[in-house]
Amino acid sequence: MNAIDHSFERIPLPMPFGWFAVAYSNELETKGVKPLEYFGQSLVLFRGEDGRPRCLDAYCVHMGAHLGVGGTVVENTIACPFHAWQFDGEGKCTHIPYASKIPAFAQQPCLKSWPCLEANKMIWVWYHPNNDTPQWEPPDYAECNSDEWSDFQCHEWTINTHPQEMAENSVDAAHFKYVHGTVDYPSNWNASYDGPLRHAYIDVNMDTPQGPVASRIENGNDGPGQAWTRFTGLTETFLLASVTPVTREQVHVRFAFTQPKANKNSDEGVIADAFIQEIVRQLNQDIPIWENKKYLHRIRLCDGDGPIMDIRHWFKQFLIEGAP
Ligand code: FES
Ligand SMILES: [Fe+2]
Repeated sequence: MNAIDHSFERIPLPMPFGWFAVAYSNELETKGVKPLEYFGQSLVLFRGEDGRPRCLDAYCVHMGAHLGVGGTVVENTIACPFHAWQFDGEGKCTHIPYASKIPAFAQQPCLKSWPCLEANKMIWVWYHPNNDTPQWEPPDYAECNSDEWSDFQCHEWTINTHPQEMAENSVDAAHFKYVHGTVDYPSNWNASYDGPLRHAYIDVNMDTPQGPVASRIENGNDGPGQAWTRFTGLTETFLLASVTPVTREQVHVRFAFTQPKANKNSDEGVIADAFIQEIVRQLNQDIPIWENKKYLHRIRLCDGDGPIMDIRHWFKQFLIEGAP
């Protein structure tokens, strides 16, 4: 048998730029420090005494220690575990306890700092291959920020694929039957695109023993790293989904579900739990396809395939030719 040819590039796409989740808020306490591996780089995330998260390149400019492994937070800076140089959120050295003077180069930002913010109970970092500044803000979702909605129910995966493949999957109508065994996939979604944002919804009548119940499924993407789905009607559930490049060919996926606390232990809560299980089941079914498929620049579609090219055109805005 011939050996498998691995000489081709399986995913010939650059990493997209945008906001990407790097942690849940509750994974980083005040003065907490976390090493991160995303965007093909080593980073350190820390929370200052003022409660704000900050993200820097991991390797100390002095002699290369990893700030995220043994580094400690002092006020709003991180102190290196090796010789205790302190760096603020802009990557400037603010203090060297054993030196009479901070070297001139280190009084300027000398460590790369990554735009970092907190929204929807997650911490987000802006990645851009040319270090351009953020071009939009991640929107807030009421469900993620309300005391009346439950704590997140979280699921996560590390998958050898690209964020664009996952975005295309959500509108790939035919695969719902052949990969997920879904009998009827609704096809007449109302989709709209607005810069980095995509929004779609469909109204469906869900069959129940009491007769059909009018329901709505809405979903959207806010840039390449954040997607969401909202079910209303028969039940209420909100899914915040994040996709963060680990490398150009690997992503870290987080699914965070929330539902109204009032629905817990009710029929609606049981239906919501079934929805959640179904979504997680479907993602697990997609993985072997994604991890083994090749990304084709030229796909050949038929009329039942769904608006895959619309997603492709929308996604293109986040890709910079020649970027890593
Ligand atoms: S390596 Fe960081 S202070 Fe020396
Ligand atoms: Fe799928």
